[in-house]
Amino acid sequence: MTWLITGGAGYIGSHVVKSMTEAGERVVVLDDLSSGDPARVPAGVPLERGTVLDRPFLDRVLRDHGVRGIVHLAAKKAVGESVERPLFYYRENVTGLQVLLEAAAEAGVAAFLFSSSASVYGTPDTELVTEDTPCAPLSPYGETKVAGEWMVRSVGRAHGLATACLRYFNVAGTAAPELADTGVSNLVPMVFQRLDAGEPPLIFGDDYPTPDGTCVRDYIHVADLADAHLATARRLAADAAAGTPRDLTLNIGSGEGVSVREMIDLVREITGHTGEPTVVARRPGDPARVVASAGRISAELGWTARHDVRAMIGSAWDAHTGRSVQPAE
Ligand code: WQD
Repeated sequence: MTWLITGGAGYIGSHVVKSMTEAGERVVVLDDLSSGDPARVPAGVPLERGTVLDRPFLDRVLRDHGVRGIVHLAAKKAVGESVERPLFYYRENVTGLQVLLEAAAEAGVAAFLFSSSASVYGTPDTELVTEDTPCAPLSPYGETKVAGEWMVRSVGRAHGLATACLRYFNVAGTAAPELADTGVSNLVPMVFQRLDAGEPPLIFGDDYPTPDGTCVRDYIHVADLADAHLATARRLAADAAAGTPRDLTLNIGSGEGVSVREMIDLVREITGHTGEPTVVARRPGDPARVVASAGRISAELGWTARHDVRAMIGSAWDAHTGRSVQPAE
């Protein structure tokens, strides 16, 4: 069965390509290269350059490669930008998904895996966020993920596709230097950037109702995240083949909370930059604590996170400084 991986030249998508090809799955990458890098696509994997908004292009790609399953990661993901440009986000993330689902349903695609986000939960007032925690997104970005999930489930039920919506928590690390996150929009790369500039890392608020006063998150190694996609894709393919397509909605997190201060202390230890971080004002919209209940994905697929935050920071730092990344065990 051939899988189309949209966004496969991006940071997360290229890790999904790596996991799936190494496991023997046949994949094709679709990417508009707006932020993706063709160098992330391994030799031997076809790269179709274009957008999911282009229906004739999609029809041609699905037909030419005999695509039976889709892993859809192509999307815009900057929360702040989505507040400034909501229509752009709705167009790229919701309309793009709609066009892709129309093409998929017509082409007889059997399985569809959608990249969703913990941002669907907004500010969850709970120790562990389960998939039944109500969705209350705080940004247009999060709204596009909620709307996308609705569309995926409805289309799956109506057209007989096996579907999955995977809600990623905080993704970090890399499995190989060339696949590393080159954006500077999340905690780990933002801390590295400060260290590069000879400046202290910033902590956005230490007066939250958490044990050390800083925000708590659930960090997930991108290699583990990619393996979760592989396990999900295989489950969808099996369900579709058995004629029992279902819709799965799964958190992808470790179930462990780590505070910003703990993360920064670990970065200081790993990098040898020992300067104290500077505490500044809270960043608007940051929830105090977002930690996944990882029970459902473990029960459904037998998947659990294997790598800890030390492996995430270590691999990211190795890639950042041009050292070879220790292979994830
Ligand atoms: C983590 C924590 C910051 C930088 C976002 C999106 C979410 C998902 C993942 C896409 C927060 C703090 C950060 C710094 C800091 N994206 N921080 N100093 O906000 O949890 O989640 O990315 O799907 O939808 O909202 O991630 O990495 O930006 O921040 O103190 O220099 O680190 O305040 O508490 P976040 P993040």
